[in-house]
Amino acid sequence: MNLNIAVLPGDGIGPEIIEQAKNVVLAITEKFGHTIQFTHALVGAVAIDGTGNPFPSETFELCKQSDAVLFGAIGDPKYDKNPKAKIRPEQGLLAMRKKLGLYANVRPVITFSSLIEKSPIRPELIENVDIIVIRELTGGIYFGEKGRSDDGNTAFDTNLYTRQEVDRIVRLACKYAMNRSKKLTVVDKANVLETSRLWRETSQDIVKEFPEIQTDYMFVDNAAMQLIQNPGQFDVMVTENMFGDILTDEASVITGSLGLLPSASIGKLTSVFEPIHGSYPQAAGKNIANPLGTILSAAMMLEYTFRLDKEAKLIREAVSSSLDNNFSTEDISDSNPRKTSEVGEWIVNYITEK
Ligand code: IPM
Ligand code: MG
Repeated sequence: MNLNIAVLPGDGIGPEIIEQAKNVVLAITEKFGHTIQFTHALVGAVAIDGTGNPFPSETFELCKQSDAVLFGAIGDPKYDKNPKAKIRPEQGLLAMRKKLGLYANVRPVITFSSLIEKSPIRPELIENVDIIVIRELTGGIYFGEKGRSDDGNTAFDTNLYTRQEVDRIVRLACKYAMNRSKKLTVVDKANVLETSRLWRETSQDIVKEFPEIQTDYMFVDNAAMQLIQNPGQFDVMVTENMFGDILTDEASVITGSLGLLPSASIGKLTSVFEPIHGSYPQAAGKNIANPLGTILSAAMMLEYTFRLDKEAKLIREAVSSSLDNNFSTEDISDSNPRKTSEVGEWIVNYITEK
């Protein structure tokens, strides 16, 4: 098979972790007899510096023409410190989501047995956690009308959803549930918000088409609490854009492995694969960031876009093995921390020698 991948390293640690993920994908394609082209493009603060636009049209064109996009991270402290900055790196991410129609963000949260002690939650509560959170990504309050009054003292953001948008994401969640334990939790705030009532009404209609799925509806505040108290009860969760933003950050620390969690943003024109962590600017250029979230995102790409299940499985096996051998970056290994590039090389060797 020939794989045509757009590579968007972005800001901070993005370039370092992307380099390792590329090496791993190269090792995999060589081993399994595929060919691959990586084409790089700018996004985020580096794109603002280079072109004035955080998601330049050349980047958009490249993404559209590629089979899939491998993405690092965006964000730069010089913008975080200035709330008045007119152009921000995050706008690049939102523009990418909207323009590529990346309507579903899929975030698996799994426990790695060698890392259970790292979790802030008691081991017995997280032993078998295996959750997929599906977050709607191109609607809701992120993209609704927003503004300020003339005197600057009043501001608003609008939460807007159409039935079609809810239908599309809940259907996707049902498909995931059907391939797993057939348990779905729809998270909303239907006791207060009209948009949530539309979500609940639409979900109730759709799940009728999937009678095997056991569906629960949960208010977001309760879901936030239950995720900590009893995460094992969840399998597939689906929710709107902002609730999903908050719940996925929360879910990511349950397993004590923020640096390890991958994600897929599924789109109409192409799909984007990225680690869930940010640009971690304090670590940029130091060769200390954990590359595993990006490497596992590349595995999701092989599986989702190319149906290369064996290849993806081998990457996951290599990652688990590196953890079992305590061959990890400093966020995981206190006793003998390894560099970003050393972890990448370890994974590549595992794959090559297997
Ligand atoms: C995420 C991030 C983004 C979001 C930011 C950087 C705009 O937090 O991908 O979860 O809020 O969606
Ligand atoms: Mg977030």
